[in-house]
Amino acid sequence: MTQAYRKKREAFIAAVPKAELHLHIEGSLEPQMMFALANRNGVQLPYDSVEAISAAYQFANLQEFLDLYYLGMQVLIEEQDFYDLTIAYLDRVHRDNVRHAEIFFDPQGHTERGIPFGRVISGILRALDDGQQRFGISSKLIMCFLRHLSEESAFATLAEAEPWLERIAGVGLDSSEVGHPPEKFARVFAKCRDRGLRLVAHAGEEGPPDYVWQALDTLRIDRIDHGNRALEDKALIKRIVDDGYTLTLCPLSNLKLCVINDIAKSPVKTMLDQGVKATVNSDDPSYFGGYINDNYHAVANALDLTIEEIATLAVNSFEGSFLDADEVAERRAEIDQLVKQSAGY
Ligand code: HPA
Ligand code: ZN
Repeated sequence: MTQAYRKKREAFIAAVPKAELHLHIEGSLEPQMMFALANRNGVQLPYDSVEAISAAYQFANLQEFLDLYYLGMQVLIEEQDFYDLTIAYLDRVHRDNVRHAEIFFDPQGHTERGIPFGRVISGILRALDDGQQRFGISSKLIMCFLRHLSEESAFATLAEAEPWLERIAGVGLDSSEVGHPPEKFARVFAKCRDRGLRLVAHAGEEGPPDYVWQALDTLRIDRIDHGNRALEDKALIKRIVDDGYTLTLCPLSNLKLCVINDIAKSPVKTMLDQGVKATVNSDDPSYFGGYINDNYHAVANALDLTIEEIATLAVNSFEGSFLDADEVAERRAEIDQLVKQSAGY
């Protein structure tokens, strides 16, 4: 791959419209904002500077990250804090040409420490509405259940969400994966499906391929978050390809959480080659060292991706989204046009 091609690919990544489908809004809390909100709200943090926060971000596994993620979100207290957090993310990814974002939030991470559900969601929604106005970014909100908590707690969270269901596109499943299989949430996911919600779940990040099977067959999800370990099971990959499931891969997250030991081991290219609808996302950008375009650049360089492969990832991000078909078609046409321009037609 020539230097000229690499430059062209870099420009293409920057310019191509994309959707982000795997983003925990609490994971976009930058150390500066964490420090500022701790001061604003009188919350005591075990760090004495922004640099100390950043220096703490070294993780050997998912749980080590989650411990700091739950610690960090304790600075989020007021409705305005949730607004500030969300608008900062949209402002940032607007510069990465994100046109659509499907954003996770973890209500139990807040309600468990006494912050009312309505305060959390109204701050986030107000920012999503402003983000559409200011940056032209469309969005959908996905409420995640924390899988280390009980089924009962998930049902209670769904009950609290009832007045807001018009504004919630779907539900997801996150937090500590191993030991908390998808089937633990079979009944609550069935209820969510009955309520007309879309369904996604983290599966196969650290957990075995069997957890991905459960997410598909027991929870009957629409889209798989991570799904890396599906590659260990040929029959599972066949199922994913045949049924056209989208996987929301997060390369820098995988590296930072030691799911892979080298960015060149990211499954992005292998999955594309096998016909999986892979997408590239940032997961928790503040903790993992990069926003969405940083993730695209990292895999493009490490895996020598072509401009056409980058375009496929961007198209997959819209096709795997919960947007209407006509909007998806518009974005697809825009991407096709950019590919042609880049090829010099
Ligand atoms: N995995 C599981 N739970 C999470 C993650 C993740 O990558 N990020 C935030 N909560
Ligand atoms: Zn995630």
